Amino acid sequence: MYQLLRPFIFCLDGERAHDLAIASMQRLGRLRGVQAPLAGQSVDLFGLHFANPVGLAAGLDKNAEAVAGLSHLGFGHIEVGTVTPRPQPGNPKPRLFRLTDDQALINRFGFNNDGVDALVARLVAHPYAGVLGVNIGKNKDTPNESAVEDYLCCLRAVACVADYVTINVSSPNTPGLRDLSSADAIMDLLQPLVVARHALANRRGQRLPLLVKLAPDFSDGALVSVLQAIQDCGVDGVILTNTTLSRDGLISQSAREQGGLSGAPLATKARHALAIARDVLGDALPIISVGGIMDGEEARVRLVMGARLVQVYSGLIYRGPRLIKEAVDATRVLR
Ligand SMILES: Cc1cc2nc3c(=O)[nH]c(=O)nc-3n(C[C@H](O)[C@H](O)[C@H](O)COP(=O)(O)O)c2cc1C
Repeated sequence: MYQLLRPFIFCLDGERAHDLAIASMQRLGRLRGVQAPLAGQSVDLFGLHFANPVGLAAGLDKNAEAVAGLSHLGFGHIEVGTVTPRPQPGNPKPRLFRLTDDQALINRFGFNNDGVDALVARLVAHPYAGVLGVNIGKNKDTPNESAVEDYLCCLRAVACVADYVTINVSSPNTPGLRDLSSADAIMDLLQPLVVARHALANRRGQRLPLLVKLAPDFSDGALVSVLQAIQDCGVDGVILTNTTLSRDGLISQSAREQGGLSGAPLATKARHALAIARDVLGDALPIISVGGIMDGEEARVRLVMGARLVQVYSGLIYRGPRLIKEAVDATRVLR
């Protein structure tokens, strides 16, 4: 069905198609309520039960408007956000580009979102049965020196509606954000959040797991240093990776657009980052692998490489909802 619709969807501007997708997921949720995740290879992690290892990556449902509808796609977990303390419009449009010949996207949204209060209001007592993550960031006009205040504000606000919280220090579209993730800087950000977390419970009344989402654009040495720093600071896991600034090997016309690249060309970097992280972290910190998972086989490979869970975004745009069942089936009976 999606393959039939795709040519029409791809005629629309990228963001318009995205908005239509969110609107139809909202309608589906209103009509049919929530659906339980597809049963697959279950994973028990961070004190949470994931019915299957395949999740929705942050950024598709930034405002948590369509969780009920998205639940019908069968994900084991859904990550909403990135949300910031105050609402902000993001960058001027156009800001989402399809690179169809490369099976990729470039986006420079810049954390457009309704603000944390609106997101929390939508998620209070949400009946979604899968694992619900909330990805948090800082407002564009908050200087890096006080960024920790923005993250603390979001963390405290979303704790009671989230199963886990992801600290996003890796989007390339908020100027200076990635500076927060250098090995020198990251402890100053993470330590106060880890301390604050002790006083917070998640939406199930349990300890609130904290994850950190990193970029794929570190040198190998810098990635090792930042992972070593993260390992000892009390967070529960790492999400690798966000979008890349690299444009290696692209053939599409829109390749020169500014922003973060996702989809098939990101797979090599995401795999490389995963291999390094497994090496550094061993079994000490679980890794969620994301970036360029366009079919079930790639999802399986990431788990074989040592990721505990995977997430998808661009693959959903190119392959449609069947990608989720394909990935859940491909990752069955792995462990
Ligand atoms: C349009 C778009 C918006 C995104 N917005 C966010 C975001 O707000 N926060 C975030 O952590 N990641 C965001 N991402 C990154 C994705 O969560 C994911 O890490 C990245 O796209 C790589 O996965 P993929 O190759 O499966 O798309 C966004 C990605 C896209 C394509």
